[in-house]
Amino acid sequence: MELIAKYHVETDLPIRKAAIAIAAEQSTGTWTEVQGADNPLAARVIRAEGTDVEIGFPEELFEPGNIPQYLSVVAGNLFGLGALKKVRLQDVIFPESLVRAHKGPRFGIEDARRILGVFDRPLVGTIVKPKVGLDPAATAAIAAAAVRGGLDLVKDDETLTDQAFCPLISRVEAVMSALDKVEKETGKRAFYAVNVTTGADQILERAERAVDHGANMVMVDVLTAGYSALEVLSRHVDVPVHVHRTMHGAFTRDKGHGISMVVISRLVRMTGGTNLHTGSYMGKMARETMENDQSRDALREEWHGLKRVFPVASGGIYPAKVSGNLDGYGIDCIVQAGGGVHGHPDGTTAGAKAMVQAVEAWLKQIPLQEYAKDHKELETALKFWGS
Ligand code: 3PG
Ligand code: MG
Repeated sequence: MELIAKYHVETDLPIRKAAIAIAAEQSTGTWTEVQGADNPLAARVIRAEGTDVEIGFPEELFEPGNIPQYLSVVAGNLFGLGALKKVRLQDVIFPESLVRAHKGPRFGIEDARRILGVFDRPLVGTIVKPKVGLDPAATAAIAAAAVRGGLDLVKDDETLTDQAFCPLISRVEAVMSALDKVEKETGKRAFYAVNVTTGADQILERAERAVDHGANMVMVDVLTAGYSALEVLSRHVDVPVHVHRTMHGAFTRDKGHGISMVVISRLVRMTGGTNLHTGSYMGKMARETMENDQSRDALREEWHGLKRVFPVASGGIYPAKVSGNLDGYGIDCIVQAGGGVHGHPDGTTAGAKAMVQAVEAWLKQIPLQEYAKDHKELETALKFWGS
C-alpha cells in the first residue's frame, strides 16, 4: 500500500521533471544522484499533468503513529525547493494502516450531542468577547448570559490561555459554576471550551487540572501547539476537544502554495478533535467553497471507522449569515458568533437568542425577515447588522 499525496505545482520545469524532483527529495533522493537511492522506499510519480502532481509514497517510509514524521515527508522540504515557484499540498490519501495507527476522536459528533441532549439541529456557540481583558468573573457572566439565550457552547478565544489577568483555573471555576447555575434554573446544558494551549511539557497537566476543576470541554490551537498536543489531549483527557485553527491562513490562504484545509481536517480527525474550525461559507475570513465542502466531508464521511467531527463555522458570523453557513454544512455542524452575539444592541442574551432564532428559521425554511416579525431579538439584529 502507498500513501498518495496530491499537489498543485507551479514551475518553469517540465511538470514531470518537477514531480520526479519532489518524489526524490521527499523519499530516498536529493539534488544529485546518490548510490542506493533506488531502494524500496523510493516514492513514485503517479501523475504529472498541467499543475497537478500525485506522488505515491511506500507505506514503509512512514512510522505508524508519528504525525510529525508523516508531515516531514508529505509537507517537508519540498515547499522550499528553489526549482518550484509554488507548491500546495491539496489532499492526502492515507493507507488504512496509518489511519488506524491513530484512534481518532474519543468524543465525536454523536457523543457531544448525547452529552448536551441535542440531536436534531446544528449546535450554536459563541466566543467570549472581548477576546482578552476580562477577568474570570466577567468571563463567567458573559458565558452565563449566552447560555441563558439558548447557546450550546461557549469558548475562549485563541489568544486567551493562562495569563495573569484571567488565570485559567479561576476562570474554569467561575464559568462552570455560572453554567451550573443556569442549568439548575433553566435545564439548559452547555459546553465551555477552555483554551489549554501551551507547550508540550505542560499541556496534559494543564488540561487535567482544568477537568479536575470542572471543565467539560478543552480547546487547543492545533497549528501553533501541534497535532501531537491534540493527540495527547484526546487520548488522556476525559472531555471533548474543541480545535481552533489559528495561523491556518499562513498555509491555506494562497491557493497556489501551502497546505489545504482538507489535509488539516484529516489530521485533526486522526488525532482526535471533536470540533474543528473549518471556515465559513459566509463571514469575515477568506474562503473557498470547494475547500469548505471537502473539509466538511473529510470530517464527517465514513473513514476507517473513526468517529465523526463537527465542522465549525466561525469568524464574522451574525444572524443574517447563518443560513448560508447551514446550507453548506447542514445539521451536523456548529455555527458560532462572537461579535454577532455580544455586539447585539440589547446585549449578549438577546444576541444569543437572535442566533438561535436564525437557526430555527433555517430549520423551518422560513425567510429570516418573515421569522423576525414575531421574534424581536432577531428583528433587532437584522436591523442593526443588515439582513
Ligand atoms: C473565532 O475564534 O472563531 C473568532 O474569535 C470569531 O469571532 P467573531 O465571531 O467575532 O468574528
Ligand atoms: Mg477568535
